[in-house]
Amino acid sequence: MNLTGKVALVTGASRGIGRAVAVELARLGATVFCTSTREGGCDATLTAIGEATNGEATSRSHALVCDVADQASVDAMAKAVTATGGGLDILVNNAGITKDGLFLRMSTEDFDQVVGTNLRGAFLVCRAFARPLAKSKAGRIVNIGSVVGLTGNAGQANYAASKAGLIGLTKSLAQELAGRGVTANVVAPGFIETDMTAGLSEDVKSAMLKQIPLARFGSAGDIAKTVGFLCSDAAGYLTGQTLVVDGGMTM
Ligand code: NAI
Repeated sequence: MNLTGKVALVTGASRGIGRAVAVELARLGATVFCTSTREGGCDATLTAIGEATNGEATSRSHALVCDVADQASVDAMAKAVTATGGGLDILVNNAGITKDGLFLRMSTEDFDQVVGTNLRGAFLVCRAFARPLAKSKAGRIVNIGSVVGLTGNAGQANYAASKAGLIGLTKSLAQELAGRGVTANVVAPGFIETDMTAGLSEDVKSAMLKQIPLARFGSAGDIAKTVGFLCSDAAGYLTGQTLVVDGGMTM
């Protein structure tokens, strides 16, 4: 797999899965734009890219600030990417949040915030880059969903709805943009060890582990490898799909 000459964007690349994806795409040769919600948020990611490539990818790695839930912020970021990168070939919508709670007590605000970041945010970023991706002729959209978008999850009605919506959005984009050579897919991780899952109790974690046939939690690198594949020429005939990467948890 080789992404030399490709320009990629990864949202929410300051840590966790987003950082691992940014490192993997840079390692495969892409010019990578990483976004975070605050200035300096991607410093550690740029350092990690440098370390993973012996400094080779440092000059083609860029950090930008973007709140995907904010239209003006997305538009400004898109302008900066196309001005510096000259276009876009690969878009990875990774930014996401949780605000868990039982449905009967879930506030409208918590619902709106999660859907506003995870689904509306992905919509805004996809729309901002649809034309450059179409111009690329071999554009790639990878949206980071979740297994709970397929299964639902008690305590995560807002999050599961946002991730299920992402699948519908992605399939529609896959159909609309196929004629321009753009593929659009979802990667649906299971339980991945990142800040998002670090706060779960040991009881919850050990109960989850029992449900994973491969008997380990996933790493951000496991997801990054799958994203790298989807962005490569090897996945050129693969579109509109949801690839579940969960150690067999939901098979
Ligand atoms: P994380 O909490 O470590 O990272 C989330 C990233 O999104 C951070 O960089 C954060 O700054 C960014 N972000 C949050 N709100 C944003 C906004 N409004 N605008 C721009 N960026 C924003 O979480 P993790 O685990 O790395 O999650 C990455 C993606 O993977 C998310 O979409 C998450 O829903 C998904 N996922 C994670 C799983 C896990 O077990 N960790 C399982 C299934 C899906």
